[in-house]
Amino acid sequence: MKTYSIAQIPGDGIGADVIAAAWSVIESIAKTEGFAINSTEFPWSCAFYEETGAMMPADGIETLRAFDAIFLGAVGWPQQVPDSVSLHGLLLPIRKSFVQYANIRPHRLLPGVEGPLKATAFDILCIRENTEGEYSGAGGRVHQGSSDEVAVETSIFTRRGVERILRFGFEEARKRRCMLASVTKSNAQKYSMVFWDDVTRQLSAEYPDVVVTSYHIDAMAARMVMAPESLDVVVASNLFGDILTDLGAAIQGGLGFAASANINPDRTAPSMFEPVHGSAPDIAHLGIANPIAAIWSGAMMLDHLGEASAARRIMAALEATTASGIGTVPGKDKTDAITRSVLAAIE
Ligand code: IPM
Ligand code: MN
Repeated sequence: MKTYSIAQIPGDGIGADVIAAAWSVIESIAKTEGFAINSTEFPWSCAFYEETGAMMPADGIETLRAFDAIFLGAVGWPQQVPDSVSLHGLLLPIRKSFVQYANIRPHRLLPGVEGPLKATAFDILCIRENTEGEYSGAGGRVHQGSSDEVAVETSIFTRRGVERILRFGFEEARKRRCMLASVTKSNAQKYSMVFWDDVTRQLSAEYPDVVVTSYHIDAMAARMVMAPESLDVVVASNLFGDILTDLGAAIQGGLGFAASANINPDRTAPSMFEPVHGSAPDIAHLGIANPIAAIWSGAMMLDHLGEASAARRIMAALEATTASGIGTVPGKDKTDAITRSVLAAIE
């Protein structure tokens, strides 16, 4: 029997709630699809930091490398550990070390979910560059605390990095409606963003079947609200993609519905799957977190592992659940009730 080994990192806050829920769905689908899926749980989190002084052990990355995929809940507990420390100690190093350069985030309304927009028939796939750009971490501070203080943080865009994320976008567009929106701010940022536009144009020659449009990030933000149905695949840099995908989450009904996959397309290291939402300290362990984003991320994980039928059946079960009115209104249904409904729809 095909067997997958998954590293589970529930992390902080509602991370544990939603990962447990999603895992029960994954286990149940595995039984009926005839594959085995094992998990090893790692307690790496802000609580772990409090105990050990680090978000994960020094060999944490090497430990994770042995797994087929990583399933992560949420990282961050700012009351205990500053976000800049916790995220740079766990989530961001995983994305970079494992060259998970494509962060894929689908934005569409599940049946029965009422978004804030008039438009209901949109299906956007945001593809966010995930290893460089504005998140490169190149910079420093001098004269700290004095009136002469200087802070510098440089975005780094490499031809390799920009080309591979755009190419990934073109390939995804080919599997969908053959439309690619490339997002920059090249009217104001005249080096990196003009470079990105140049690479977009150069690559478009190799994909004559894909209709490419370059947008500025501000115009794209407006378009996602005013005309989301006009978009198919949207490719953006790390920070722009970060911001646009919270907007994407908002138009699909909220962060409780926003799934994501951090993909290493070359499969030289494990990919990581996580809901877009954070640890939500205010509702942690109350049993009311929406597990839908985590379950959807789990379906993306199975699809990546080659279990397309299992992934499709989880999505169908999610859709049957929301179509029946369960899990559609934030805070209305308990985590357990939503999960039970998905499990019932699978059987
Ligand atoms: C996300 C999150 C992270 C990011 C934070 C927690 C560092 O907002 O996955 O979108 O900015 O990438
Ligand atoms: Mn974000």
